Amino acid sequence: MPLDRAEAATAGKAPHPAWLFFKRWMANPLTMASITPSSPALGRLIARNVRREPDEVVVEYGGGTGPITRCLLEAGIPASRLFTAEIDPNLANYLRRQFPDVTILEGDVRNIRQMLPEQHIGKVGTVVVGIPMILIPLSAQQVIVDEIFKIMPEGRYFLAYTYSTGSPLKHKELGMKARRVGFTLANIPPAHVWAYSR
Ligand SMILES: C[S@@+](CC[C@H](N)C(=O)[O-])C[C@H]1O[C@@H](n2cnc3c(N)ncnc32)[C@H](O)[C@@H]1O
Repeated sequence: MPLDRAEAATAGKAPHPAWLFFKRWMANPLTMASITPSSPALGRLIARNVRREPDEVVVEYGGGTGPITRCLLEAGIPASRLFTAEIDPNLANYLRRQFPDVTILEGDVRNIRQMLPEQHIGKVGTVVVGIPMILIPLSAQQVIVDEIFKIMPEGRYFLAYTYSTGSPLKHKELGMKARRVGFTLANIPPAHVWAYSR
């Protein structure tokens, strides 16, 4: 991809996350879904609801420019226990540079069991879903949700955040129970966090 003028001015330095996020939104509006990265307040709300036993890992879906990744690390999840999946190669490269100790899984989370090292399958304490599930057809949502429950121990929940007031997932049709665990005004736009279990 050719460097544009803003990037040329900062050649060699990482681009500002908001600018990179906006550019990736222009390239892929449906997979990005938002024009701006999540806020630290939303990241902290999510991190407070993450559960993990010492031998378990946390997997984040849709790292973007990494605002949630950063909050998960700040909340004490060791980088060696954090895996962040990202479908956009530009963003995956950016994440690798920002978080060299976090494992960045580049690809589509529908294939999570091929992306995650085998020893962690069934050992994922919480999945944090940051991909725009609401824009994905129900059949593809079903694949993503079924895969999530295959990588977590029985009885766990995954977290998803949304700007809509209702559940971003049709949980009954997808065979799940849903619980809203929090809300923050300090995000553009304000966001809700939901937990889903089976
Ligand atoms: C709304 S953004 C969230 C980014 C970041 N977590 C945040 O909160 O600012 C959604 C991200 O999910 C990624 N994404 C969308 N579909 C994906 C998929 N099927 N597999 C992996 N990543 C995906 C997009 O490229 C984008 O970076």
